[in-house]
Amino acid sequence: MISQEEKFKNFSNKKKKCIPLVCLTAYTYPMAKLIAPHVDLVLVGDSLGMVIYGMKDTTGVSMEHMRRHGQAVVKASENTQSIIVVDMPFGSYEESDELALSNAKYLLEETGCDAVKLEGGLEMSSRIKTLVENNIPVMGHIGLLPQSAPKEGGFKIKGKNEEQVDKLIKDIITVEKAGAFSIVIEGTIESVAADLSKLVSVPTIGIGASADCDGQILVTDDMLGISGGRIPKFVKPYADLGAKIESAVKAYAADVRERKFPSKEYTY
Ligand code: KIV
Repeated sequence: MISQEEKFKNFSNKKKKCIPLVCLTAYTYPMAKLIAPHVDLVLVGDSLGMVIYGMKDTTGVSMEHMRRHGQAVVKASENTQSIIVVDMPFGSYEESDELALSNAKYLLEETGCDAVKLEGGLEMSSRIKTLVENNIPVMGHIGLLPQSAPKEGGFKIKGKNEEQVDKLIKDIITVEKAGAFSIVIEGTIESVAADLSKLVSVPTIGIGASADCDGQILVTDDMLGISGGRIPKFVKPYADLGAKIESAVKAYAADVRERKFPSKEYTY
């Protein structure tokens, strides 16, 4: 089995060797079983609030949600080389370094994950520094911050003007300096995200950002066509499992109603 230290070393070496990093979300045991062997990093994202629980944004996600889903994903990913990151939910870290530390410790201890992710740049750099100083690996997240979307009146693309670009530059530099091992850049103008990626030595992971980021992440359910909601422009539909599931359910329903299922071969 590969050590945690080796996992992180392999991950950051891929940036040095210009090998793109592959990342996806997973929230459940069966999905993580399918994903973890094929990717560099699995994120138990708080997007689960919208995808699994039908919430309108991620601000209703609790520590309990993240604990339970984190445990399931870590269990399914044992014996893989993938780094497992659990999102810190809204309200679990913003207020103080102390709150961030106690909740991050709880998530690590309860789930056995390798790292946590939290949203925010310059304003969250003290939280990141505190966690890293306490041996908790942190993934940063800048650009479009889903947990701030309700406050900002929706999911707004970043890097559209000089003021936003200056902020993003400050954000990425301080997040790296605070000790994050990797930084997600979300919903950011392509050329800006590409420039941001060159400013830091840790791997950047893009989502709706740029092909020039050091890796990419997508919400798995979106790219498989099973999230049920509106699919953002940056998601390539790699499968339409939603349609396949619906057609299987319809076939089963018809068989049961016509007493065709269970037939002899499916009975004892
Ligand atoms: O919660 C999540 O799934 C995320 C990704 C979109 C990066 O933060």
